[in-house]
Formats: sequence, C-alpha cells, structure tokens
Amino acid sequence: MSLQTQLDAALRQAIRSALDRDADPLLAPATNPKFGDYQANAAMGLSKAMGQKPRDLAEKIVAALAPGSGASALIAEATLAGPGFINLRLTDAALASAASDMLADDRLSVAPADPPQRIVIDYSGPNVAKEMHIGHLRSTIIGDALARTLDYLGHTVIRQNHLGDWGTQFGILIEFLVDMNWDADPKQLNHQVIADLDKFYRQAKQRFDSDGTFAAAARRRVVHLQSGDSRTLGLWKYLIKNSLLHFNTIYMRLGVLLNDGDIRSESSYNASLAGVVEALNHAGLLKVSDGARVVYPDGFKGKDGEPMPMIVRKSDGGYLYATTDLAAARYRIEQLHAQRVIYVTDSRQSQHFAMVFQVIKQLQWGDDVRFDHVPFGTILGPDRKPFKTRSGGTVKLSEVLDQAVQRASRVVADRDLDEKDKQRIAQVIGIGSVKYADLSNDRIKDYVFDYDRMLALEGNTAPYLINAYVRIQSIFRKVEESGIGCRVSGVGLKITDEAERSLVLKLLQFPGVVNAVAESLEPHRLCTYLYELAGGYHQFYERCQVLKADDAATRDSRLALCRLVARTLQKGLKLLGIETVDRM
Ligand code: ARG
Repeated sequence: MSLQTQLDAALRQAIRSALDRDADPLLAPATNPKFGDYQANAAMGLSKAMGQKPRDLAEKIVAALAPGSGASALIAEATLAGPGFINLRLTDAALASAASDMLADDRLSVAPADPPQRIVIDYSGPNVAKEMHIGHLRSTIIGDALARTLDYLGHTVIRQNHLGDWGTQFGILIEFLVDMNWDADPKQLNHQVIADLDKFYRQAKQRFDSDGTFAAAARRRVVHLQSGDSRTLGLWKYLIKNSLLHFNTIYMRLGVLLNDGDIRSESSYNASLAGVVEALNHAGLLKVSDGARVVYPDGFKGKDGEPMPMIVRKSDGGYLYATTDLAAARYRIEQLHAQRVIYVTDSRQSQHFAMVFQVIKQLQWGDDVRFDHVPFGTILGPDRKPFKTRSGGTVKLSEVLDQAVQRASRVVADRDLDEKDKQRIAQVIGIGSVKYADLSNDRIKDYVFDYDRMLALEGNTAPYLINAYVRIQSIFRKVEESGIGCRVSGVGLKITDEAERSLVLKLLQFPGVVNAVAESLEPHRLCTYLYELAGGYHQFYERCQVLKADDAATRDSRLALCRLVARTLQKGLKLLGIETVDRM
C-alpha cells in the first residue's frame, strides 16, 4: 500500500469517528515544506454539507488524530491552518518504512486500478498521402504517454489509429497516378515507392488547379473509388501502403507503441455511415437543412444565436468527418466494449468533439461510457508563429528527428565512449529531448520549438533527467569496481538527514502522480515530478556522503535510496515513452 493510500485510510477513519461521515479527506502533498508533508482539505467541502464552520470541523478531525489514536504511527503532527486546512507531518519511521516497501515492490507502490477499465485511446491519426508533419507529432507523443500510463495502471488499453484515408482528395491523387500510367504493370506497384509524399501531393494538386480536363477526371475518379472500381481501389491501396511505410518508419524512430494492428481507418467505417444517419432519424434527431441532413446538438449556438448544426450527410449524398466519428464511437462502444474513450487531437477540434459527444449522449449510445477530448496547443517557431520551414513550408517530422539526433551527438562527441555507444546515446537523447520538450509543457498551451533548450543538460529537459539517472548508475559501477560488499536486498531505509527526508517524501509521491496523470490526462505533471525528484536527488547527493558514509548501515541505506531514485526516474521516463542510457 502506498504511503498516500495509508494516509488516506487514516484520515477517513478520523473523519468517521469525529464527524460520523464517510468523506474523501482530499489529501495533497503540501505546497510548502514549512507547513508539513501533506495537507487534507476535506473540511471546506464538508462545511457546506454539515452547516458548520470548516475550522470547527477541522479541529474535530485533528483531535481524532491525536497521539494515542491509531494514526500516530503514521502522523507525527496534525495542525490546523487558515480557514480549515489540516497540515500533516509524518513520522520518519513511516516514511522510511514506506520507502522500503516501494523499493521491494516491482510496481514501485503503484497499485493496479480497481476495477480496471477498457479504455480506447485514439491518437496520431495521420492522413494518407500526406507526410506526417510536426502537428501530428503532439498527438502521437501525448497519446502514447497516456496509453503507457493507463496500461501501467492495469487498464486494458485499446489503441486506435484513426487514419485519414478517405475523401475527395483521393480522386486527385489517384487520377494523377492513372495519368502517369503508374499501374501499367501492376507488379511494378509492389516495388515503386513514392519518396516524397508531400511533393507528390503538391504536384497532383497543381495539376488539378490548372487543368480543367484533369479536374473533371479527378471528380469522376472519386465516384469510381466510392463505387469500388477495382483499378481505382488498387491505386488507392497503393497510396495507403506507401503512406504506412512512411508512418511506420516515424513510429519506429519515435519508439511509440502504435503498430498496424491499431489502425482502424476512416474508410473502415464506410459501411456503417448510412446506419448512423438512420439511427439519428430513428431517435428523432435528424433534420434537413438546405438539402443536407443535419443534427442540432443541444447547447450549441452559432454567433447569430441560432442552433448550430452538425452536418452528417451533404446534399450530394457524401458523408463527413463527423459522421465517421459517430460511426467510430458506436464501434468503440458496441464492439470494443469501451468504458472510456479518449481522443488526442489539437485544440482546434475541441468544438467538433464536444458536438460529437453531445450527439452520442442524445442518442443514448453509451450512457455510462466516459468520453474525453484531450486537446493540445500548437508548436511554434522561434518567431512565435506556427512552426514552418524558412520558405514557409510544413516542417517534416523525419527532418526534425534527424536534426535532434545530430545535435545530441555533438553533446557526447568528446566523451570517452566507443562509437556505437555514442550513436545509441545520441538517438536516445535526441528523440527523448523532442518528446520530453513536448510532454513537459502544459499540453493546452502553445510552445516554442527550440533545439538548444530541449537538449540542454540543465533545466526541465530529457538530458537533465537522463543524466541524473546516469550519475546514479556510475555510483553503482564504482561500488562494483571497488569491491565494497554492500547489501542490496532487504535493506531497511533510514532517515538521518533533512535532504534524505525530503527525497524520500518526493519518491513516495510517485504513485499519486501516476494516478493524477491518468485522471487529468496531463503528462506534464509526471515531467514536473521527475524534474523535482532529480533536483531532490542532487541536493541529497551534495549533503549526504554515500560511499563514504559514517557506517555500513547508513551507506547501504543511502545506496538503496539511490537505487530507488534511479528506478523511479527510469520508470517515469518509460511511462512518457523515453528511454534511458547507463552512461553518457
Ligand atoms: N486525421 C485527423 C487529422 O489529421 C485526426 C483524427 C483524429 N481522430 C478522430 N477520431 N477524429 O486531423
């Protein structure tokens, strides 16, 4: 049981005996160590419900925690503060024993969720025949970190890559291939690779804009595609295969969990789109507006104050992005049996998802399914405008990763390591830096993409955290080389110094932070935590002798503490999808 869980139980007990109520103590780590280790804020909320002053309630709770109560092994001191906060200082013995438990536990005291849920997480979602660009980076990285965290908590995580592989633009692309006679020899298609998808797309679009005959043929091509013409379908599949080749290379480099089995593309819902419109009709929600079929989700008004429609079928019979999302939601509820569905896209799609969720509610499709949109801001260039190349083009992801790795290799260039190790370190640091820079920002905010900052060895960066891990590993190498026979397992941790105490306290917050990330879907909370943990470690290391400690018991305890910090850093980074190295 994690320390916070024990503390939670003790406070619940105190509230019950003092107020005869079952209430969440609302525990949080203290914001300022001067006031204690944790604080409990339950009295504020209870005051309304019980019609008493929060301070009076808090006083009663504090009395129930007094020495002699069951909580005294855990709590050294409980004091009243402000309008009714309870500050708690824990006993050193409780801290030391909880840290020893954490050390002995493979899960680092992170309890599996009870009950575990089936959680669908929709992320990445790049578009076929367009190169993945920096905008898809965020969805891929944030989604992957959330998938890893939820999985670690024991949930059944079902990843869904909602690949954009349908729409009128395919008429243009396929007609362009036909025009160039690419499928003259069908076997040839198996070998030809489109090296530059963006360039290909631009050329096709240019042709479409400048050549009326081509444009007309491209429009007919859409009809061929929709009616399942086999030559057209063959070329469409060819475009998909090419794009996947490209996406998978990026996924592999980023080290994300997504694979082909996670793809459930837009086109896979084609057969269920008519059924969505039918379901809306059946529920009495379908309306006609200018020949289009629309639904008006409750609570959405346009600038003119009129109800805002969501179009599900155009007047020409075509379906839309929203229709596909309704079909996808239905599939996730009915076939995947999701209990929670999470969508990771940029914040410009917030209104789209809010409307989709509202329609799902009105359809009563998944009454107890929780839908979450996880929006994020834009990546900015040094000029604080959306990140673009010098010539104003979209920045390719592959080039960004190349750059980052190349710059990271400069960091380790003059280290005394062999070439192969250096290359691997540069990979881990380069890719890790790009991911961490993204994850460590509050996701809703825009952030400036800055290689120098993300690769810096100081500050809230991947290199700083990986370096902290590396330094601990080097202590253990020294232990091995020097032949000091220290105890590794079954070491009882003890607290002998203030820096040691705050480090232990920080370590014990890990389970709470992992749970907070799963609840808020905000990975930056874990980043902030790891940064503080590394800072706490450095302070400890400056103040407390480890290998030269006064006695063997203190040395072994401190080494155990080092080991726990290293494991927590490594696990935390792993949950963010970032690797570590043993030296750098
Ligand atoms: N392909 C979409 C885009 O690039 C993202 C898909 C997000 N998922 C969804 N279910 N709509 O914007």
